[in-house]
Amino acid sequence: MAKDDTPTRYGSISRFLHWSMALLLIWQFLSALAHYGFEDTAFESFFWPTHKPLGLVLIVLTVIRLGWAVMNLSRRPPSINLAAKLGHLGLYGLLLLIPSLALLRQYGSGRAFNPFGLPLMSGFDGDKIAWMVEPGNLLHGVLGWVLLAMIVGHIGMALLHRKQPGQINVLPRMWGKD
Ligand code: HEM
Ligand code: HEM
Repeated sequence: MAKDDTPTRYGSISRFLHWSMALLLIWQFLSALAHYGFEDTAFESFFWPTHKPLGLVLIVLTVIRLGWAVMNLSRRPPSINLAAKLGHLGLYGLLLLIPSLALLRQYGSGRAFNPFGLPLMSGFDGDKIAWMVEPGNLLHGVLGWVLLAMIVGHIGMALLHRKQPGQINVLPRMWGKD
């Protein structure tokens, strides 16, 4: 499989990024669910501590994926309609915004953040920085659940397009042979 995208299928790098992020997002939403409804259970104590470091990995992968998408823009499969184009853009937007809001809040809280032992934020004494903390408090969790709903819709549409007569089956662009 060639690494670059072509007009009929995504190449190996786009596919690797798409499917590895899909798997990691399942884990990320399990940890969010554990935090949402399973406080003080073994489910929470197993999954929740992974939420911040994995969220960081996801934003790094999103930036790489966006860069690769831009490099392949002229040759990757065209969107089948405007809704698909806007939907994919929306997914990218949320994949950037959700962890960004959380990282900003993390910094503004003044608490240290050392994911995988890396001293990313050393923390500080004194008051929280309100303008950094508030947007995350307001939006991070809500937008996280919106992303989950959009992913469910995305999967539904990818499967629906296969079944309906007259529609383009887009699955082979991302999975299997074209
Ligand atoms: C779990 C999180 C998922 C996210 C965030 C996601 C996101 C995206 C994005 C942004 C694209 C546009 C191409 C790109 O830039 O990579 C795309 C394409 C695609 N995805 Fe997903 N996806 C997910 C899961 C899935 C699953 C489970 C399926 C299988 C049913 C699927 C099927 C497809 C197909 C077939 C395309 C190509 C669509 C086209 O070219 O019109 N995705 N996905
Ligand atoms: C793509 C990446 C991410 C997704 C999809 C995501 C998703 C979510 C969701 C759905 C919730 C709500 C859980 C609930 O309702 O209790 C949540 C909460 C939380 N997340 Fe994330 N998250 C991501 C990245 C991050 C990062 C990078 C950090 C920190 C550096 C973080 C820190 C938190 C914290 C502290 C909460 C609990 C407070 C709140 O609900 O805002 N998340 N996340």
